[in-house]
Amino acid sequence: MNLTACTIVLLIFLLLPSCASEDKLFVGKPLSPRDVIVSIDGTFALGFFSPSNSTPDKLYLGIWYNGIPKLTVVWVANRETPIMVTGRSSSSAPTLALTNTSNLVLTDADGRVVWSSNAIAGTAGSSVPSSAAGPAATLTNAGNLEVRRSPNSATLWQSFDHPTDTLLSGMKVRATRGNRAGDRLVSWRTPGDPSPGSFAYGIDPATSLQLFTWNGSSTLWRSSVWTGYRVANGYVANISTVVYFTVLDVKDDASVSLTLSLGAPRTRYVMSYSGKLVLQSWNKASLEWDDIDVWPWYECSRYDYCGPFGYCDNTVAAPTCKCLDGFEPASGEEWSSGRFSRGCRRREALRCGDGDGFLALPAMKAPDRFVVVGNRSLDECTAECSRNCSCLAYAYANRSSSSKGDFTRCLV
Ligand SMILES: *[C@@H]1O[C@H](CO)[C@@H](O)[C@H](O)[C@H]1NC(C)=O
Ligand SMILES: *[C@@H]1O[C@H](CO)[C@@H](O)[C@H](O)[C@H]1NC(C)=O
Ligand SMILES: *[C@@H]1O[C@H](CO)[C@@H](O)[C@H](O)[C@H]1NC(C)=O
Ligand SMILES: *[C@@H]1O[C@H](CO)[C@@H](O)[C@H](O)[C@H]1NC(C)=O
Ligand SMILES: *[C@@H]1O[C@H](CO)[C@@H](O)[C@H](O)[C@H]1NC(C)=O
Ligand SMILES: *[C@@H]1O[C@H](CO)[C@@H](O)[C@H](O)[C@H]1NC(C)=O
Repeated sequence: MNLTACTIVLLIFLLLPSCASEDKLFVGKPLSPRDVIVSIDGTFALGFFSPSNSTPDKLYLGIWYNGIPKLTVVWVANRETPIMVTGRSSSSAPTLALTNTSNLVLTDADGRVVWSSNAIAGTAGSSVPSSAAGPAATLTNAGNLEVRRSPNSATLWQSFDHPTDTLLSGMKVRATRGNRAGDRLVSWRTPGDPSPGSFAYGIDPATSLQLFTWNGSSTLWRSSVWTGYRVANGYVANISTVVYFTVLDVKDDASVSLTLSLGAPRTRYVMSYSGKLVLQSWNKASLEWDDIDVWPWYECSRYDYCGPFGYCDNTVAAPTCKCLDGFEPASGEEWSSGRFSRGCRRREALRCGDGDGFLALPAMKAPDRFVVVGNRSLDECTAECSRNCSCLAYAYANRSSSSKGDFTRCLV
């Protein structure tokens, strides 16, 4: 009897600290740098952080993985406007507050606003007490900070709509957002500096049919072209997880999203400060992030690396640039010394309309800068290209589904 009672007391005591942490921010109860908000299952935390020893004077508000020994931030509110921590002691501190108009407002120690969620102000309504019935910002188990006017009302604002460098399970990257430009995952400048770096990841604004990573304004890497709804689900054996990468191409709303099977370890896409897009998974044994996949994986799969009419052959042990059949390196000397940017040239000039034909190249990534021609059969797509002397190639696919009633995909 005594032993049991003792155990219960001990258990309650041990559980107390996590029970005490809140997953919500209410009006009139601002968050200060000593506080954190933790999602109900303990996966994510929201609070103030200083990214590294190199910038101890800068304070950011962000969301990170809770309960792992390596600070891994997945979202930052004020990446462009850090709070400067001055040496002088101040009676007040920076705070994150939820206003009675359901806006999140981040202020520095002097009360200056450094960031605000700027959700539709709406009606302030009747006086809102700091209780569960009024507006609240909730940190979900998925790592999303959601603002609602009342517990069951629609989401007014959510951090998932404002990605920084990370795509979490349940998040979407959209081609467009109403009148706003599409979403971009933008890298940190350095590991210790969350301000926007030069690398970005997003949907091709011209076609919505492929994904790019960019270095400033130049393209670094390009995905293959998708052909409608597509779920690429890869089973990653060593993390026992199915990673679903879903492309939705519906009228005016192309998007990509990440979903993980139940019980998955912490896994995320991140646009890294080094310019690579990485699928990372937390390794509980080594207490490190493992790179499960990396884009571009090979040097030669970088955008335009192999030049015009060149391609990266990744079916061989050491992937390298090759020329298409009927082509030869534009400069044999440069090509053999490993400089491929001038690409390849035709061995024999085209005689458009006079006996030229097409050569099928299976398992190739369709080239960039294509024109999409709707509602064409395979033969019509072939004809579209062969009757036009400036068309050099076409790609064709039958799609299994389409939101726009056109199941064909003809690219010229
Ligand atoms: C909302 O907050 C503002 C500023 O703090 C205050 O002036 C106003 O009276 C509040 N409105 C209600 C309805 O509580
Ligand atoms: C990105 O661009 C900068 C400036 O053009 C260049 O110095 C750097 O090497 C590029 N980085 C990558 C990874 O391509
Ligand atoms: C899983 O695979 C990745 C990539 O091949 C590797 O880096 C990592 O160490 C592996 N993780 C485990 C837990 O074996
Ligand atoms: C597709 O083309 C066929 C003839 O090629 C035409 O009959 C049909 O109306 C077209 N459909 C659409 C949706 O444009
Ligand atoms: C020929 O093809 C080019 C590029 O594919 C395109 O810009 C042009 O409009 C086409 N011309 C005709 C007459 O279809
Ligand atoms: C596309 O579908 C049509 C009709 O179902 C079929 O005749 C054609 O061979 C298919 N083309 C390709 C490239 O799969």
